[in-house]
Amino acid sequence: MKIILMGYMGSGKSTLARKVAERLDLKALDLDQVIEDKEQISIPEIFKTKGEIYFRKAENQHLAELLSGDESFVLAVGGGTPCYANNIDLIKSFSISVYLKGSINTLKNRLNKGKGGRPLIEGMDEEQLTEFIAKHLFERRSFYEQSDVVLSIDEKDADQNAAELTNLIRIHYSK
Ligand code: S3P
Repeated sequence: MKIILMGYMGSGKSTLARKVAERLDLKALDLDQVIEDKEQISIPEIFKTKGEIYFRKAENQHLAELLSGDESFVLAVGGGTPCYANNIDLIKSFSISVYLKGSINTLKNRLNKGKGGRPLIEGMDEEQLTEFIAKHLFERRSFYEQSDVVLSIDEKDADQNAAELTNLIRIHYSK
């Protein structure tokens, strides 16, 4: 079983991947981490020294590689992953996909606390961040909404989200 968690930056994909993987006895993976390990360079450094186009190519290549294997996992992808190249088609064809859906306010509050290591929002104040998320989420939503499952993350903590998502997967996707 391959489960992919997608959603905007700050929606809690990596934490939830770990918690759901533990409950389903699967391996947890994080695409940004896979890219950093394979490329031997951090994501902010890739953006700075090689540019976003290089990052998007690496992202597509490593996603395709993971999805072509036999291994089962819960994979957190980057906020932009479903929106570039043929990634959404790969995700739809080879995994159970989940959109962690949060309001602009929820995402802004979370990202305002944890902007570090996120080149796209580096240096933004709260007002700029709100405006950026509103516009960016509008552009990305049509990709996220192609997921098989939508999980609302507003006003819930990671353990509640993990319990809810694990149940949904057990009910709908267990053989
Ligand atoms: C990005 C999100 C990041 C990372 C990169 C680009 C995006 O991942 O892949 O900085 O385009 O939204 P997170 O969603 O895990 O922050």
